[in-house]
Amino acid sequence: MKYSQFTAPDHPSFPENGGVIACVETTQVIGGGLLMIMAAPAGLMHEASAGRYFLARCTEPTPWAQAHDWTLSLRRPLFVAGWRPALSTPDGVERWTLTTPALEDAGVRWLAARKPGECVHLIGPLGNGFTLPPRTQRLALISEPARILALAPLLHAMLDRGGSVLILLKAEGVLDAALRNLLPFAVEVHQEADEACWRARLREAMTWADAAAAALPAHETATLAEAVRAARMRIEKGLVQCLVDVRLACGYGACLVCLTPLANGRWTRACMHGPVFDLVSLSSG
Ligand code: FES
Repeated sequence: MKYSQFTAPDHPSFPENGGVIACVETTQVIGGGLLMIMAAPAGLMHEASAGRYFLARCTEPTPWAQAHDWTLSLRRPLFVAGWRPALSTPDGVERWTLTTPALEDAGVRWLAARKPGECVHLIGPLGNGFTLPPRTQRLALISEPARILALAPLLHAMLDRGGSVLILLKAEGVLDAALRNLLPFAVEVHQEADEACWRARLREAMTWADAAAAALPAHETATLAEAVRAARMRIEKGLVQCLVDVRLACGYGACLVCLTPLANGRWTRACMHGPVFDLVSLSSG
Protein backbone atom coordinates (compact mmCIF):
# COMPACT_ATOMS: atom_id res chain seq x y z
CA MET A 1 0.00 0.00 0.00
CA LYS A 2 1.25 3.49 -0.84
CA TYR A 3 2.80 5.60 1.92
CA SER A 4 0.53 8.48 0.87
CA GLN A 5 -2.49 6.44 2.05
CA PHE A 6 -1.29 6.97 5.64
CA THR A 7 -0.26 10.61 5.31
CA ALA A 8 -2.55 13.18 6.88
CA PRO A 9 -2.79 16.64 5.28
CA ASP A 10 -1.03 19.34 7.27
CA HIS A 11 -2.64 22.46 5.84
CA PRO A 12 -6.16 23.70 5.02
CA SER A 13 -7.29 22.37 1.66
CA PHE A 14 -10.07 20.94 -0.46
CA PRO A 15 -9.42 17.17 -0.73
CA GLU A 16 -10.18 15.13 -3.85
CA ASN A 17 -12.95 13.20 -2.07
CA GLY A 18 -14.91 16.41 -1.40
CA GLY A 19 -15.51 18.39 1.77
CA VAL A 20 -12.79 20.47 3.34
CA ILE A 21 -9.69 19.90 5.45
CA ALA A 22 -9.54 22.37 8.36
CA CYS A 23 -6.62 22.52 10.78
CA VAL A 24 -7.05 22.96 14.51
CA GLU A 25 -5.53 26.08 16.05
CA THR A 26 -7.09 25.87 19.50
CA THR A 27 -9.60 23.72 21.34
CA GLN A 28 -11.15 24.89 24.58
CA VAL A 29 -13.91 23.62 26.82
CA ILE A 30 -16.00 26.65 27.80
CA GLY A 31 -19.14 26.54 29.90
CA GLY A 32 -19.34 22.80 29.29
CA GLY A 33 -19.21 23.13 25.49
CA LEU A 34 -16.36 22.67 23.03
CA LEU A 35 -15.00 25.70 21.18
CA MET A 36 -12.57 25.12 18.30
CA ILE A 37 -10.74 27.70 16.21
CA MET A 38 -9.73 26.19 12.88
CA ALA A 39 -7.79 27.42 9.87
CA ALA A 40 -9.70 26.70 6.67
CA PRO A 41 -9.34 27.48 2.98
CA ALA A 42 -11.14 30.55 1.75
CA GLY A 43 -14.34 30.47 -0.26
CA LEU A 44 -16.83 28.32 1.66
CA MET A 45 -18.18 30.80 4.20
CA HIS A 46 -19.36 34.28 3.36
CA GLU A 47 -20.52 35.29 6.83
CA ALA A 48 -20.74 33.86 10.33
CA SER A 49 -24.25 32.46 10.17
CA ALA A 50 -25.50 31.27 13.58
CA GLY A 51 -27.23 27.90 13.40
CA ARG A 52 -25.41 26.66 10.28
CA TYR A 53 -23.11 23.72 10.90
CA PHE A 54 -20.31 21.54 9.65
CA LEU A 55 -20.15 17.77 10.07
CA ALA A 56 -16.81 16.46 11.30
CA ARG A 57 -15.46 13.01 10.49
CA CYS A 58 -13.97 11.79 13.76
CA THR A 59 -10.91 9.97 12.51
CA GLU A 60 -7.55 10.95 11.07
CA PRO A 61 -7.93 12.61 7.68
CA THR A 62 -5.59 10.11 5.95
CA PRO A 63 -7.06 8.40 2.87
CA TRP A 64 -6.74 5.01 4.62
CA ALA A 65 -8.52 6.10 7.84
CA GLN A 66 -11.24 7.91 5.92
CA ALA A 67 -11.99 4.72 4.01
CA HIS A 68 -11.54 2.09 6.74
CA ASP A 69 -11.83 3.51 10.27
CA TRP A 70 -15.49 3.48 11.31
CA THR A 71 -14.92 3.38 15.08
CA LEU A 72 -16.83 6.67 15.33
CA SER A 73 -18.94 6.13 12.27
CA LEU A 74 -21.35 9.07 12.48
CA ARG A 75 -20.11 12.58 11.79
CA ARG A 76 -20.53 15.11 14.60
CA PRO A 77 -21.95 18.61 14.12
CA LEU A 78 -19.92 21.75 14.81
CA PHE A 79 -21.95 24.97 14.78
CA VAL A 80 -20.63 28.24 13.42
CA ALA A 81 -19.72 30.62 16.25
CA GLY A 82 -17.46 33.03 14.37
CA TRP A 83 -15.58 33.67 11.15
CA ARG A 84 -12.61 35.77 10.10
CA PRO A 85 -12.28 36.06 6.33
CA ALA A 86 -8.98 35.40 4.57
CA LEU A 87 -8.61 39.09 3.68
CA SER A 88 -8.19 39.96 7.36
CA THR A 89 -5.60 37.26 8.12
CA PRO A 90 -1.90 37.53 7.17
CA ASP A 91 -1.60 33.93 5.93
CA GLY A 92 -4.57 34.14 3.55
CA VAL A 93 -6.60 31.38 5.22
CA GLU A 94 -9.89 31.84 7.02
CA ARG A 95 -10.43 31.32 10.74
CA TRP A 96 -13.58 29.46 11.68
CA THR A 97 -14.80 29.34 15.26
CA LEU A 98 -16.95 26.26 15.73
CA THR A 99 -18.78 24.95 18.77
CA THR A 100 -20.77 21.99 19.99
CA PRO A 101 -22.32 21.22 23.38
CA ALA A 102 -22.25 17.44 23.61
CA LEU A 103 -19.05 16.85 25.58
CA GLU A 104 -20.18 13.49 26.93
CA ASP A 105 -20.27 12.19 23.35
CA ALA A 106 -17.30 10.05 22.23
CA GLY A 107 -16.99 11.88 18.91
CA VAL A 108 -16.93 15.29 20.58
CA ARG A 109 -14.32 14.02 23.04
CA TRP A 110 -12.25 12.92 20.03
CA LEU A 111 -12.55 16.42 18.56
CA ALA A 112 -11.69 18.04 21.90
CA ALA A 113 -8.48 15.98 22.04
CA ARG A 114 -7.13 17.34 18.72
CA LYS A 115 -3.83 19.17 19.09
CA PRO A 116 -2.94 22.42 17.30
CA GLY A 117 -1.90 21.63 13.74
CA GLU A 118 -3.95 18.44 13.47
CA CYS A 119 -6.50 18.48 10.68
CA VAL A 120 -10.11 17.32 10.52
CA HIS A 121 -12.27 16.48 7.51
CA LEU A 122 -15.47 18.52 7.45
CA ILE A 123 -18.47 18.87 5.17
CA GLY A 124 -20.51 22.06 5.15
CA PRO A 125 -21.59 24.66 5.90
CA LEU A 126 -25.00 23.01 6.02
CA GLY A 127 -28.54 23.82 7.10
CA ASN A 128 -30.58 26.97 7.57
CA GLY A 129 -29.35 29.39 10.20
CA PHE A 130 -30.97 32.17 12.19
CA THR A 131 -32.09 35.36 10.50
CA LEU A 132 -32.08 38.61 12.41
CA PRO A 133 -35.27 40.49 11.51
CA PRO A 134 -34.29 43.91 10.07
CA ARG A 135 -36.23 46.00 12.59
CA THR A 136 -35.09 44.11 15.69
CA GLN A 137 -33.62 46.36 18.37
CA ARG A 138 -33.98 44.18 21.48
CA LEU A 139 -32.74 40.64 21.08
CA ALA A 140 -33.03 37.93 23.74
CA LEU A 141 -30.65 34.97 23.49
CA ILE A 142 -31.99 32.05 25.52
CA SER A 143 -29.72 29.11 26.14
CA GLU A 144 -27.42 27.33 28.56
CA PRO A 145 -23.65 27.84 28.95
CA ALA A 146 -22.67 24.85 26.79
CA ARG A 147 -24.79 26.06 23.84
CA ILE A 148 -24.75 29.86 23.99
CA LEU A 149 -21.70 30.29 21.74
CA ALA A 150 -23.71 28.83 18.84
CA LEU A 151 -25.73 32.08 19.08
CA ALA A 152 -22.66 34.35 19.26
CA PRO A 153 -22.85 35.61 15.65
CA LEU A 154 -26.34 37.02 16.37
CA LEU A 155 -25.06 38.82 19.41
CA HIS A 156 -22.34 40.62 17.45
CA ALA A 157 -24.67 41.42 14.54
CA MET A 158 -27.16 42.96 16.94
CA LEU A 159 -24.57 45.09 18.74
CA ASP A 160 -23.14 46.21 15.39
CA ARG A 161 -26.52 47.65 14.45
CA GLY A 162 -26.78 49.49 17.76
CA GLY A 163 -29.38 47.23 19.36
CA SER A 164 -29.54 45.67 22.83
CA VAL A 165 -28.92 42.05 23.73
CA LEU A 166 -30.08 40.15 26.79
CA ILE A 167 -28.66 36.69 27.46
CA LEU A 168 -30.68 34.35 29.62
CA LEU A 169 -28.93 31.14 30.65
CA LYS A 170 -30.34 28.15 32.47
CA ALA A 171 -27.45 27.12 34.67
CA GLU A 172 -26.41 26.40 38.21
CA GLY A 173 -23.38 27.77 40.04
CA VAL A 174 -20.94 30.45 38.98
CA LEU A 175 -20.75 31.22 35.27
CA ASP A 176 -17.49 30.02 33.68
CA ALA A 177 -15.16 33.07 33.70
CA ALA A 178 -13.82 32.13 30.26
CA LEU A 179 -17.36 32.25 28.89
CA ARG A 180 -18.12 35.59 30.53
CA ASN A 181 -14.91 36.99 29.04
CA LEU A 182 -16.10 36.02 25.56
CA LEU A 183 -19.37 37.90 25.99
CA PRO A 184 -19.17 41.68 25.40
CA PHE A 185 -19.66 43.87 28.49
CA ALA A 186 -22.50 45.66 26.70
CA VAL A 187 -24.56 42.49 27.00
CA GLU A 188 -26.74 41.87 30.03
CA VAL A 189 -26.38 38.27 31.24
CA HIS A 190 -28.88 36.59 33.57
CA GLN A 191 -28.57 33.10 34.92
CA GLU A 192 -31.23 31.00 36.62
CA ALA A 193 -31.28 27.42 37.87
CA ASP A 194 -34.50 27.28 39.85
CA GLU A 195 -37.39 26.20 37.61
CA ALA A 196 -39.91 28.79 38.85
CA CYS A 197 -37.36 31.62 38.56
CA TRP A 198 -36.37 30.40 35.09
CA ARG A 199 -39.99 30.51 33.90
CA ALA A 200 -40.43 34.00 35.37
CA ARG A 201 -37.22 35.21 33.69
CA LEU A 202 -38.36 33.74 30.39
CA ARG A 203 -41.64 35.64 30.60
CA GLU A 204 -39.80 38.88 31.42
CA ALA A 205 -37.39 38.36 28.54
CA MET A 206 -40.21 37.66 26.10
CA THR A 207 -42.05 40.79 27.25
CA TRP A 208 -38.93 42.92 26.71
CA ALA A 209 -37.59 41.45 23.45
CA ASP A 210 -38.78 42.17 19.94
CA ALA A 211 -37.01 39.00 18.74
CA ALA A 212 -35.47 35.97 20.42
CA ALA A 213 -33.14 33.13 19.50
CA ALA A 214 -32.96 29.96 21.55
CA ALA A 215 -30.54 27.06 21.76
CA LEU A 216 -31.88 24.81 24.50
CA PRO A 217 -32.18 21.09 25.28
CA ALA A 218 -35.23 19.57 23.57
CA HIS A 219 -37.29 19.30 26.76
CA GLU A 220 -37.11 23.10 27.27
CA THR A 221 -38.99 23.95 24.06
CA ALA A 222 -42.41 23.51 25.68
CA THR A 223 -41.40 25.74 28.62
CA LEU A 224 -40.22 28.43 26.23
CA ALA A 225 -43.46 28.25 24.23
CA GLU A 226 -45.49 28.54 27.44
CA ALA A 227 -43.50 31.64 28.48
CA VAL A 228 -44.08 33.28 25.09
CA ARG A 229 -47.83 32.64 25.33
CA ALA A 230 -47.87 34.03 28.89
CA ALA A 231 -45.97 37.17 27.87
CA ARG A 232 -47.61 37.89 24.51
CA MET A 233 -50.90 35.94 24.46
CA ARG A 234 -49.77 33.83 21.51
CA ILE A 235 -46.67 32.75 19.61
CA GLU A 236 -46.22 35.11 16.69
CA LYS A 237 -44.38 33.92 13.63
CA GLY A 238 -40.95 35.52 13.40
CA LEU A 239 -40.68 36.29 17.12
CA VAL A 240 -38.64 33.29 18.34
CA GLN A 241 -36.29 31.07 16.37
CA CYS A 242 -34.95 27.85 17.89
CA LEU A 243 -31.87 25.77 17.16
CA VAL A 244 -33.33 22.32 17.74
CA ASP A 245 -31.54 19.79 19.92
CA VAL A 246 -31.27 16.77 17.62
CA ARG A 247 -28.52 14.54 16.38
CA LEU A 248 -27.12 15.59 12.99
CA ALA A 249 -25.16 12.91 11.15
CA CYS A 250 -25.41 12.87 7.34
CA GLY A 251 -26.59 16.41 6.62
CA TYR A 252 -28.35 15.34 3.43
CA GLY A 253 -31.66 13.92 4.59
CA ALA A 254 -30.62 10.29 4.14
CA CYS A 255 -30.22 8.72 7.60
CA LEU A 256 -33.28 10.18 9.40
CA VAL A 257 -31.54 10.50 12.79
CA CYS A 258 -32.54 14.18 12.86
CA LEU A 259 -36.31 13.70 12.55
CA THR A 260 -38.01 16.56 14.40
CA PRO A 261 -41.69 16.67 15.39
CA LEU A 262 -43.66 19.68 14.17
CA ALA A 263 -46.64 21.44 15.70
CA ASN A 264 -48.86 20.24 12.81
CA GLY A 265 -48.23 16.60 13.75
CA ARG A 266 -45.78 15.94 10.94
CA TRP A 267 -42.06 15.28 11.09
CA THR A 268 -39.22 17.01 9.32
CA ARG A 269 -35.51 16.42 8.77
CA ALA A 270 -33.69 19.08 10.78
CA CYS A 271 -30.44 18.66 8.87
CA MET A 272 -32.06 19.99 5.69
CA HIS A 273 -35.06 22.05 6.79
CA GLY A 274 -33.42 23.36 9.98
CA PRO A 275 -31.71 23.01 12.33
CA VAL A 276 -33.19 26.45 13.06
CA PHE A 277 -36.99 26.63 13.11
CA ASP A 278 -39.52 29.26 14.00
CA LEU A 279 -41.06 28.39 17.37
CA VAL A 280 -44.47 28.51 15.65
CA SER A 281 -43.45 25.43 13.64
CA LEU A 282 -42.47 23.52 16.77
CA SER A 283 -45.28 24.51 19.16
CA SER A 284 -48.81 25.43 18.22
CA GLY A 285 -49.48 29.14 18.76
S1 FES B 1 -28.85 14.01 9.64
FE1 FES B 1 -29.27 12.35 8.30
S2 FES B 1 -31.31 12.73 7.65
FE2 FES B 1 -30.80 14.45 8.85
